[in-house]
Amino acid sequence: MIYLDNAATTWPKPKQVVEAIEEALVTKMGNAGRGGHGAAMKMARLIYQTREDLCVLFGTDDPKRVVFTQNATHALNQALFGLLQPGDHVITSSIEHNAVARPLFSLKNRGVELSEIPGTLGGEFNLEAYDKAFQPNTKLVVTLHASNVTGTLLPIREIGQIAHEHGALYLLDAAQTAGVFSIDLGRLDVDLLAFPGHKGLLGPQGTGGLIFKPGIHLEPLIYGGTGSLSEEDRQPEFLPDALESGTLNGPGIAGLGAGVRYILDQGIDRIRVREQELCRKLWNGLQEIPEVKLYGSDMVERRSPIVAFNIGELDSVETAFALEEEAEIVARAGLHCAAHAHRMLGTLSQGVVRFSPSHFTSEEELETVLQVVRKVASEYSTSLV
Ligand SMILES: Cc1ncc(COP(=O)(O)O)c(C=O)c1O
Repeated sequence: MIYLDNAATTWPKPKQVVEAIEEALVTKMGNAGRGGHGAAMKMARLIYQTREDLCVLFGTDDPKRVVFTQNATHALNQALFGLLQPGDHVITSSIEHNAVARPLFSLKNRGVELSEIPGTLGGEFNLEAYDKAFQPNTKLVVTLHASNVTGTLLPIREIGQIAHEHGALYLLDAAQTAGVFSIDLGRLDVDLLAFPGHKGLLGPQGTGGLIFKPGIHLEPLIYGGTGSLSEEDRQPEFLPDALESGTLNGPGIAGLGAGVRYILDQGIDRIRVREQELCRKLWNGLQEIPEVKLYGSDMVERRSPIVAFNIGELDSVETAFALEEEAEIVARAGLHCAAHAHRMLGTLSQGVVRFSPSHFTSEEELETVLQVVRKVASEYSTSLV
């Protein structure tokens, strides 16, 4: 198999991640915060270590403000439903993943006002439009960092600055960039950061989190047992317990911690440069195939490691199917849970094929991929005559 769907979830995982999960299952299987015995304490320490490692990676210093969730969607829902009340106004982009678009749609039906700023997927952004969208009741700006369809990066430094000039908070969906680009919360005007554990951070599925700055109060999304203040009916107000009800995914979080430490050891910039080289090779190779249409910015520096394309008018699902049949090439086709982005791109009916390599992808694998796309494209051309 040639795995080019790392934007959905990364594979393979570093061996340290697999070993950490196994170790947690074999030797540290207590339930963190549930009892004071050794096994529970071991797991609690392991989980706390992961909070600390995430703080190092994201340039922040309060492990209690790292809240674990099942995935990025859960973290985004916690932030949005935890913050917004009827009568509040929120600003977002028009290229969001459903993980943001659907909670916002639901909140709109409950009386939250919503402004969607048109975004281009070529990489040009109208910051003035963000500036003009603010109202006296604007509480929040929420955008993704990079489009999961084309990889296009948003100018998050500038958007955060504008949000703060207007006294609003900025929630960043870093699903495509956490572990890929350096995100330093100490230097950015980002107040809340939602991330998956299973993509760029190289952890297992079922992990993710939300980090948010002091002074922000979030109502819990779910309520229940936390192992603390058990005599009270009221949910504890201290963090992270306030937002972490029920048993945590201890073995998964152990794996996530190992993924974060792997990234810190390797160096995030080294990983990114490698992924950009691979994307450049893919883009340049695909560009030479006459039937291929590429989407997004042609500069790898302006994209997360994604290359999106179509072959003529061929349905993207058919293209992906042909690639898998020919050489077990795994790519994502269709709408990628992001119909809003496809509406902007004009690909709502065709979808796009998305290649997303990781730093584990080899040059030889990409040679094979380009050869196979060439073959599928030429068969498509022949079928038209
Ligand atoms: C931009 C973006 N936001 C949110 C998500 C949701 O992430 P998760 O599947 O971890 O909930 C994704 C997943 O692909 C994404 O690409």
